[in-house]
Amino acid sequence: MIPVRLAILASGSGSNAENIIHYFSSENRVEIGIIISNRSEAQVHQRAERLGVPSVTFSREMLSNGVALCQFLKNERIDFIILAGYLLKIPSELISAFPNRIVNIHPALLPKFGGKGMYGSHVHQAVVDAKEQESGITIHLVNENYDEGSIIFQTTCPILASDSADDVAAKVHELEYKHYPEIIGELLKKEFNW
Ligand code: GRF
Repeated sequence: MIPVRLAILASGSGSNAENIIHYFSSENRVEIGIIISNRSEAQVHQRAERLGVPSVTFSREMLSNGVALCQFLKNERIDFIILAGYLLKIPSELISAFPNRIVNIHPALLPKFGGKGMYGSHVHQAVVDAKEQESGITIHLVNENYDEGSIIFQTTCPILASDSADDVAAKVHELEYKHYPEIIGELLKKEFNW
């Protein structure tokens, strides 16, 4: 059996990437082929090294060059792409080459608090400023517009009036760790007919 090979794209800490790697480590139908980042100093590289997963940094130019990126992923025999805290736009060539095979997680309940500039602590601060009573996660397929692909899964967490953006982030991260790998697993089962 040839395992499904995943690429994880991450710009920052990579705690979701690490969680996903752990989740699939005992699954022989899945292999994490490569981690790609746009930042050489991103902590995700240290995590990748510790976990024995190859990781690379590409320039912004390379990451916006859909043809070159597709070729790289093809050489790496990548079947499915996971965005985990990845901040750049995905080129359209990649979206066409991986139909329904690029998934993202957004740390809020889309369509609220999505779009350009809504990432990391900005999202949680906006949620607190809007005095929302709940936040949560949205797992969605990726299309050409930020945070607009079809939604696969959402779940919520309550927000207290006293919660800071950091408190909300912690609650949202818990949901991410619990659900993102499982939902990816379900998507893979469907896509690759396990
Ligand atoms: C997560 O909250 C994810 O939802 C968002 O970026 C954050 C990445 O965190 N897209 P980490 O790098 O996985 O720790």
